[in-house]
Amino acid sequence: MEAVDSIVKGQEDIASYHQDCVASGMCQPDISKADFLRNLRRRIRALRWNPFSRRPIISDIQNDCLIVQDGIELCCLTKELDKSWIKVSMPEDVHAKWLTRSTEDLDKVVVRTSRKEFYNPIDHPAYRKAKIARRNSIRLDRIRQLLGPIGPGICGLDIGCNMGYTSHHLQRQGFNMTGIDYDDYHLDIAKALTTTYGLDVRLQNCYFRQFQTDHPFDIVVALTVLYHMFYNQEEQDIPECSRMDKTAVMEKIDTLTRHALIWESGADPPREIDFIRSNSGLSEYYFLGPTQGTGKKRNLGVFLRPGTAFTDYLRNRYTAKFAGRWDYKG
Ligand SMILES: C[S@@+](CC[C@H](N)C(=O)[O-])C[C@H]1O[C@@H](n2cnc3c(N)ncnc32)[C@H](O)[C@@H]1O
Repeated sequence: MEAVDSIVKGQEDIASYHQDCVASGMCQPDISKADFLRNLRRRIRALRWNPFSRRPIISDIQNDCLIVQDGIELCCLTKELDKSWIKVSMPEDVHAKWLTRSTEDLDKVVVRTSRKEFYNPIDHPAYRKAKIARRNSIRLDRIRQLLGPIGPGICGLDIGCNMGYTSHHLQRQGFNMTGIDYDDYHLDIAKALTTTYGLDVRLQNCYFRQFQTDHPFDIVVALTVLYHMFYNQEEQDIPECSRMDKTAVMEKIDTLTRHALIWESGADPPREIDFIRSNSGLSEYYFLGPTQGTGKKRNLGVFLRPGTAFTDYLRNRYTAKFAGRWDYKG
């Protein structure tokens, strides 16, 4: 995706993709970086301007992920060109599996709540034309770029998970995800989607203050939610008993987070960053780039707890994939 993005934008910075391809055996070590780039550029141009390009071939569905056997570059290019759907070819048995993803529960919730819009995209053809508040998946792309191939064995908590978009994606990647949100209107969609996708995300309707667990999480995700808890509580319809002092919120997050907090800001990123760093052991901050949330500018970033092997892994990934991409001192 990164390499296709570079080529489409004319930046052609494919060094790390070249390295990955050599390391995984997809590219012979004796092919020079220049030749690799020339070939890739030629293939991407051919795909971009050829309406008769062969459809990507899907060979299987595993854990609600479509396994692309051939045509990954066309998939990436389609996404890069901001199209969210693509026609693919798949064998009949895979297609039959795909059709078992029923939206019955989801349809019922939608009718019951007279819902006209969703916060995040729904990964199902029946909802291809649904109105979406945050259509863009740039946050997920960057989170996945940071996390790399890890997944199974890692547990994550998604605070303010809304309709479960991030939880579902990380669960597909093999994470053990728990999502919490106090708002039934959103959480009922998250639960119905968990059934549609056949995933095993644990979803809990509660305020963060009420959330109880007997173990910490490797990764905690808090996307455009902490600022609600830090600064906007008085604007929300939150019962007095569920409000939490912001230092207590941070103490609880600190206790719950083993290694990393993946975070998206509210309107004042530096203020939130300072607060998080100075009120927890999550003292290393790395900027994952600017984002747009329902028309507002946000920052995506990750806070790491120094001193663990997992943290070292994430820091190294950050250096390889993100360092120098944005002029920001965290
Ligand atoms: C702006 S939305 C962000 C949703 C999701 N994190 C995302 O970025 O796609 C904020 C979500 O946090 C939830 N939320 C706000 N305060 C919360 C609290 N104290 N405990 C649990 N959920 C909360 C809201 O119900 C809402 O679904």
